Amino acid sequence: MEIIRQLDSLRSALAKIRETRSVVGLVPTMGALHAGHMHLVETAMAQCDSVVVSIFVNPTQFGEGEDLNAYPRQEAADAALLEGAGVDLIWAPTVDQVYPDGFATNVSVTGVSAGLCGGSRPGHFDGVATVVAKLFNQIRPDAAFFGEKDYQQLAVIQRMARDLDFTHDIVGVPTVRDADGLALSSRNAYLTPEQRGQAVALPDTMRDAAKSIAKGDDIASVLEEAKEKLIASGFHNVDYFEMRNAETLENMTVFVKPARLLAAAHIGSTRLIDNIAVT
Ligand code: PAF
Repeated sequence: MEIIRQLDSLRSALAKIRETRSVVGLVPTMGALHAGHMHLVETAMAQCDSVVVSIFVNPTQFGEGEDLNAYPRQEAADAALLEGAGVDLIWAPTVDQVYPDGFATNVSVTGVSAGLCGGSRPGHFDGVATVVAKLFNQIRPDAAFFGEKDYQQLAVIQRMARDLDFTHDIVGVPTVRDADGLALSSRNAYLTPEQRGQAVALPDTMRDAAKSIAKGDDIASVLEEAKEKLIASGFHNVDYFEMRNAETLENMTVFVKPARLLAAAHIGSTRLIDNIAVT
């Protein structure tokens, strides 16, 4: 397995891979890999002849005061995991390979990026869409794999791919959870043992709220009570706890399938997100 940091080497390595293997999968990551990422890799391995994993902590998707500097970086451990999984190539570019001097282009997806994380993290999805568009052009994969845990991100990337004529498959992969239900996230590493215990209130509350809405309870009251429950459980701020159309991400005031609950809340200095289908 090669770790490549420069674009010219990437192009040669990809050309070599393409000589013998026709379906190339891409798993874009920011590193600090956990079982959720490895599930994306396994899914990609099962569907592709060759898998490329990108590791790049993309500065443009972090806002001022966010955790860009603190974001966990553990390339050697990540590489060991990926090598064990049979990945062919890690694309770990330096910042100048992604954002050369004078870089002046922004990919901005409207609609699905409005509100939710787009509301609480202004500019975040421009950063994501721009870097993912670049990764797609750099790797030219036949399929790219993203976790459903970042549900709005997945919707933004699907919209961007349709709008910009990227013809490869965008594959959404279900969230991997710890035994108690907390969605795996690189940011879980920030939680103290006490906060980790409290954090399970997020998936628990989302599951209860989804059940209440499905059985016909008043949506506004369910969402309000869910926020209160999170605060009572140790979260100190809830960015949002909302129900949206699962495909368009439009706001919903009455329950019609397909519907999805999406939430983001802060515990200590950690912001956690999660989402669940309402069925
Ligand atoms: O989900 C992530 O890890 C990142 O947002 C992504 C898709 C790799 C873009 O930097």
